[in-house]
Amino acid sequence: MTVWVVGSLNQDLQLEMERHPRTGETVLTADLVRRFGGKGANQAVAAARQTGAGTHAEPTRTVMVGAVGDDEAGTAYRDRLQARGVEVDAVRVVEDSPTGTAVICVDAAGDNMIMVSPGANLQLRTEDVTTALADLADGDIVLLQLEIDHDVVVETIRWAAERGARVVANLAPYADLPPEVLVLCDPVVVNEHEHAQLRRSGLDCPSLLVTLGTEGSTWGEVHVAARTVEVVDTTGAGDAFCGALAAALAQGADRQSAMEVATRAAADCVQHVGAQA
Ligand code: RIB
Repeated sequence: MTVWVVGSLNQDLQLEMERHPRTGETVLTADLVRRFGGKGANQAVAAARQTGAGTHAEPTRTVMVGAVGDDEAGTAYRDRLQARGVEVDAVRVVEDSPTGTAVICVDAAGDNMIMVSPGANLQLRTEDVTTALADLADGDIVLLQLEIDHDVVVETIRWAAERGARVVANLAPYADLPPEVLVLCDPVVVNEHEHAQLRRSGLDCPSLLVTLGTEGSTWGEVHVAARTVEVVDTTGAGDAFCGALAAALAQGADRQSAMEVATRAAADCVQHVGAQA
């Protein structure tokens, strides 16, 4: 089975500070640190780390489908993913946009504020995705988030679902997707804030997984408690959850076991600085 991750790759510029600034205020921070991020690539790294979660014996492949700039950050990122067991042939190098960049502010409690300049991520086209997914097999997982062009997301979901793939859509950062597309996803994954936005929009998802931070996560009848750990940095915890969940589902895990695996991955993630292990 293959987990196809269709999404963003960013370089994260991370600043740690005692507390986040208020509007108009200046605060001093620790030294700026450059890390690998982007919700798509974070999820791909988490998926590639996940092994042996279900009943399927054969190893799971993780393939990243996305776009980076023709720059140092883009080259470094492709090398990095390969070293983490993620296939990168479908990561396109584009000439007219820089690799995506996120500025991340993390306070002493480990809570973050994130601003993303998508750059090359917005150059990914539906044709790139359908070409990359040419050997998509029945039962493969296609995992998406919303840091790429939303038309590409919508078209990919329709295309992949028609071909028998299981689509997992993480609505982060939140945007409304067409109702007929949301029903094709199993599951739609949202955190508490995204869940509130989804409810306000009146959209219905028959398969909805809500992550609730320290309250754990819920998917239909199944609830899994969070793990109690020392939180250093929450950046990428949702991505670790989604990536591990997708890999576990690809490996044949049921809802309960896939959520337990995902919960463990998110708990591991918050114990280190940066989005990726
Ligand atoms: O979810 C965390 C990620 O959001 C960061 O890595 C940043 O790049 C943004 O995409």
